[in-house]
Amino acid sequence: TITIFKTIPSLREWRQKLATEGRTLGFVPTMGGLHEGHLSLAKQAAGICDTVAVSIFVNPAQFAPHEDLDKYPRMLEKDLELLEATNSVDAVFLPTVKDIYPNGIPLDVEKQQGTFVEVKGRSHQMEGQTRPGFFRGVATVVCKLFNIVQPTHAFFGQKDAQQCVVLRSVISDLHYPISFHVGETVREYDGLAMSSRNRYLTPEHRQFANVLYRALSKGKQAFENDGIRDSKRIIAKAQEVVESESETKDVKLDYFSLAHPRTLEELESVGEDGAILSGAIYIAGTRLIDNMLLNCE
Ligand code: PAJ
Repeated sequence: TITIFKTIPSLREWRQKLATEGRTLGFVPTMGGLHEGHLSLAKQAAGICDTVAVSIFVNPAQFAPHEDLDKYPRMLEKDLELLEATNSVDAVFLPTVKDIYPNGIPLDVEKQQGTFVEVKGRSHQMEGQTRPGFFRGVATVVCKLFNIVQPTHAFFGQKDAQQCVVLRSVISDLHYPISFHVGETVREYDGLAMSSRNRYLTPEHRQFANVLYRALSKGKQAFENDGIRDSKRIIAKAQEVVESESETKDVKLDYFSLAHPRTLEELESVGEDGAILSGAIYIAGTRLIDNMLLNCE
């Protein structure tokens, strides 16, 4: 059964005992509202590590004032049941906002006090363009969690491709002795990438919510089956799908990007290193993201 830690000292004490036994510790940070995407990371971790810890913490620092911090799904009991049922998780860490941000954490960046972690060159484009400050919030909380949990292995989902690139940089730039693992995107039966935010969709909107998946698939097809390398042409394939549905349905494109898989520089054409084809859309105001890898890992 899972041991639940609600304070930093109690978690640290548990961690120190593990250290004396020299066991590996896999860590899966989450914001809760758990689904099979999160659970698959926990299962992957259990396959590689002696012990697995999951954190559930809705991190205010990665939400802008106009975003969904207040309505973000919080369903702790259900989350714990799901984690228990995987038989993969040993510990769950549930810190409070006060534990993680003793100085408080106003959503207005100008009013924030204390230490923050920024990953230059990887955070301003794609997701960061629509959500400035987002990756600063993510990198900061993940560093705090790493310092508390002290995992030997950390697990993140491919669904958040840019987050993976940013956090890989954090681990390498700040010399964390943590090996980095990426889990495949887990999808619903119709291709929609699983997300805590899918809960915001009404049944009507859910019916066409896989439009982003269908659009990215068209782009990937153009690359793989038709041998197209030119970014504009690949992105145009994806755009056509979203645009044709925007005429009749409540779908709005935020962006499509075709970027280098490590530097995230926008590409004119896909080269030897491959590319990340990614995008974001709004369905009736709910923002959904997804991506596909073209010839890379
Ligand atoms: P959250 O959105 O809860 O996601 C937690 C982890 O699950 C992330 O690594 C994310 O990429 C992964 N994940 C989400 N949906 C997935 C899917 N459909 N398939 C595979 N993996 C999936 O990402 C965050 O929380 C936060 O930014 C966090 C890293 C916890 C920092 O606050």
